Amino acid sequence: MYAPRIQELLAREEKVFRIDATTVGVSECDLVAEIVAARPVLATERSVYKPAAGADIQHDSATRTIRALGQDVLAGIRNPPPPARGLSGAWPYAATSYLRQWLFSSDPLPVSLLSKRGVTRSPALSRVVDRAVTVWPGSGAEGGTALAELIRAASGDLDKKQAVAMYRRATATLCDGVAALAGNALWLMGPARKPAEAPADLTAALWETLRLLPPAWMLFRTDGKAYTGLHPEIRPEDKVALFPLLMHRHPDYWADPLEFRPERWAGVADPEKTPAFMPYGFEGARCWAKHLIVPLAERLLTVAFDNGLVIRSPQQEAEVPLRSLLSVRFDAGIGA
Ligand code: HEM
Repeated sequence: MYAPRIQELLAREEKVFRIDATTVGVSECDLVAEIVAARPVLATERSVYKPAAGADIQHDSATRTIRALGQDVLAGIRNPPPPARGLSGAWPYAATSYLRQWLFSSDPLPVSLLSKRGVTRSPALSRVVDRAVTVWPGSGAEGGTALAELIRAASGDLDKKQAVAMYRRATATLCDGVAALAGNALWLMGPARKPAEAPADLTAALWETLRLLPPAWMLFRTDGKAYTGLHPEIRPEDKVALFPLLMHRHPDYWADPLEFRPERWAGVADPEKTPAFMPYGFEGARCWAKHLIVPLAERLLTVAFDNGLVIRSPQQEAEVPLRSLLSVRFDAGIGA
């Protein structure tokens, strides 16, 4: 059961349409590619790398962050997973906390509090933790992640504040995004699967989930000036919303678009070269962390299946609320 505004979008047949007085929606594959290529993404349009502590994130700091995150994910998934009972409960939140514990629990307090949900939901608490981490980011002697090491290594007030923001955003984007993807995959695989039995090709099931329920379902561009020549509907004062969700379901681009058919990815060497498929964006603004997402989701789902995780409720219709990440909500538990 999609939130009404998502449902309205799904009912659209046109690929370029006005959403309101200043927003145009686009799901036409070539036009989306042209829009993404027309100009670089603005600092303010970025998510992980939008400005922090009042200044843009420099390119070398951005690349250091992504390298550290990659190191931490690879190191983390080599460690044994936390007890699987942590996957029981309300998804995707249970999976988000589980991933955070798996990958980042080696960080000392207060660093490990930076991305805790109870903290990030309160701006006042976040400020207190930020200040504590800036003053005392731990010694590193007790181990810890490469991302936390970037906070310790930062010199100067601005660098430190930005490193703290990068830690919070990178860990949150990773854990929330992978939890959403794994949850969406569990839901889509659920009915066809006997409990505790992993599908033969989990990678293909995840690519098919990225098509049918892509966590990054809408990309936003705020300044329409660069796009006005590309389509008559787009005016300079418009914002533009690009919809992978709609493109991934359009019958002009896909056979049986609404069917969950992981087989369509069997033998596809590079899924991202598939036309009208953009779960990580298009050339020009493609996701820097994309190589981490499917492997981590696959590892998480393998733990879930090995431990007999099943969806307990609802059985038929689950909610998909209007959020920046598209994710199905359900309750899961270990054992039949
Ligand atoms: C399931 C998880 C994720 C998904 C589905 C995802 C998806 C996407 C998509 C669709 C874009 C294109 C955005 C646009 O053109 O407006 C994008 C861009 C990007 N993503 Fe991801 N992403 C995920 C996780 C992450 C993580 C964990 C990081 C880094 C910590 C990250 C860093 C970036 C960066 C740097 C860009 C390029 C845009 C920019 O320069 O700011 N992503 N991602």
